Amino acid sequence: MRVLLVGSGGREHALAACLSRSPELEALFIAPGNPGMAPLGTLVPIAADDVAALVAFAKEQRIDLVVPGPEAPLVAGLTDLCIEAGIACAGPSQAASALEGSKSFTKDVADAAGIPTARWERFEEAEPALAFVRRRGAPIVIKADGLAAGKGVIVAQTLEEAEAAIIDILTDRSFGEAGASIVIEECLVGQEVSLFAFCSDSEAVLIGAARDHKRIGEGDTGPNTGGMGAISPPPHFDREAQEQALDIMVRPMLAEMVRRGTPFRGIIFAGLMLTDAGPKLIEYNVRFGDPEAQALLIRLDSDLLPVLKALAEGRLDNASIRFTDEASISIVLAARGYPGTPVKGGAIRGIERAEAVPGVSVFQAGTALRDGVLVASGGRVLTVCAKAETAVQARARAYEGVAAIEWEDGIFRRDIGL
Ligand code: AMP
Ligand code: GLY
Repeated sequence: MRVLLVGSGGREHALAACLSRSPELEALFIAPGNPGMAPLGTLVPIAADDVAALVAFAKEQRIDLVVPGPEAPLVAGLTDLCIEAGIACAGPSQAASALEGSKSFTKDVADAAGIPTARWERFEEAEPALAFVRRRGAPIVIKADGLAAGKGVIVAQTLEEAEAAIIDILTDRSFGEAGASIVIEECLVGQEVSLFAFCSDSEAVLIGAARDHKRIGEGDTGPNTGGMGAISPPPHFDREAQEQALDIMVRPMLAEMVRRGTPFRGIIFAGLMLTDAGPKLIEYNVRFGDPEAQALLIRLDSDLLPVLKALAEGRLDNASIRFTDEASISIVLAARGYPGTPVKGGAIRGIERAEAVPGVSVFQAGTALRDGVLVASGGRVLTVCAKAETAVQARARAYEGVAAIEWEDGIFRRDIGL
């Protein structure tokens, strides 16, 4: 098979590593990729969200399967364009990607499918929204309805914070059109977990679960990031609980999407809160998480390529997929300044030494080659991952790997999985 993988982060590097091991792979192209992925395939200088150029390239290169990593090309309709061109794409259509692109759409689907989720209301105008939060009181959660680069959710601990968030999003339009409407919902209390599954129409096959560490600072302090590290599986959420959650949180959604005429084919990422009253849906993403994917994929014990092809073609019911029952962890090394303006250009050494630690893999994200030297070129730069029989061992191995990396501007959390 000739495959085009789309994206350039650690998640895509981990996907590329799996795809490159497939006996069914004939050629792997990666757009735009990063230097860490260069040994695994041919890097193509097309941006991940330039869907027209991606499809033109796929046609020209007679690609059999497109594998989208991030959400941007999906929300921009990459899958629909691929299907028009007769090319299989392992991601949801633009219509089904609304599960990530619109919070109110997700809440509508969850309600229609009977999926437990926080009680909610949608508002387009500030006055009624303000009146609503004054009636309800804090804590309360305010969300920009559209895609806001992970910054559109405000968990307001006080009424003042909630009011400020409403004005900020609806009146001042800080998130532009993504904030043309908001969802206000009940604040859920509990431990968060992320559940991942391959889905195709009515079929869902469990991938696994992970826990992300979103804040930049140790002890979950400071601003939110794309994710600073993940552990898999999360404590108290074993395979049986994950299968149960798939029945409650994912399969009814798939049935509802089929009923609406917009079936979902791709990887679903369900963000769940384990509350005292059982798991509740926080949100869906229509792709793998980053850095959750890295922690999950290093335990993959089957060929990923036929599974992705099957889900793209609606034949997932025949697919077999196995993960080892090890524990795994991913630790993000980011550039000083992230999630604000990261320091770029610093030389990075020691990746081979890190990977010499048993069970350790290093995936690249914001890296570039300058005069043959690997340098930092973005916010999240490396993900150091490890697997082992126990979570404690995996954690120790991963931090041993981190210690082998020489990079002056690198920052990371020392408390991933503690
Ligand atoms: P998102 O940016 O959509 O990934 O959401 C950011 C985070 O906001 C989630 O990971 C949760 O920690 C938090 N969150 C979202 N909705 C709720 C809710 N209803 N109650 C409590 N926390 C929430
Ligand atoms: N790590 C969270 C995400 O990928 O959305």
